[in-house]
Amino acid sequence: MKYSNPEVYISAVDIQNKIAELGRRISEDYKDGELTVVSISNGAMLFTADLVRAVTIPMHLDSIMISSYAGTESSGNISLRSEFKLDLSGKDVLIVDEILDSGNTLFYTRRKLLEQNPASLKICVLLNKQERRKVDVNADYVGFEIPDLFVIGYGMDYKEYFRNLPYIGIYKS
Ligand code: IMP
Ligand code: MG
Repeated sequence: MKYSNPEVYISAVDIQNKIAELGRRISEDYKDGELTVVSISNGAMLFTADLVRAVTIPMHLDSIMISSYAGTESSGNISLRSEFKLDLSGKDVLIVDEILDSGNTLFYTRRKLLEQNPASLKICVLLNKQERRKVDVNADYVGFEIPDLFVIGYGMDYKEYFRNLPYIGIYKS
């Protein structure tokens, strides 16, 4: 693959400022309790690592692996590639993903986690592409609203490349 780093679309500094704000809001909203964070690997790895360090209340952290994308189009064919270890029953659960696109991934994940009867279940995403939505799912915490663009970096990939970029860029083929 011809590899060149993309231009900056959302800078590392803007990402970190937004995460500090999200962390404050989440810490305030759950301040009388505990939080169980379920992160969706691999894409949400970087976002989760920064977000949990911006949250100041007691928490548990686990991750699940879900895949639906091949190249730049969601296959709509979701598969759960690992089982989580935490018992979510009676817990206040926050699902963390880096981007909400068609909604297939989070719709499926939410349904799966609800089977464990959590006390509450909310969703936090760094990016939301509202106009791409195909199924009924919304996030309770959103970092940035973005238009219909294929973005890479900060955990997000094109064919598994670019996840390590500290900023978010736009993929151009
Ligand atoms: P959805 O199931 O269509 O909502 O897609 C969610 C997942 O697809 C995200 O967690 C990402 O892993 C991936 N994804 C969606 N949009 C993008 C993008 O613009 N760039 C990279 N990955 C994306
Ligand atoms: Mg993902």
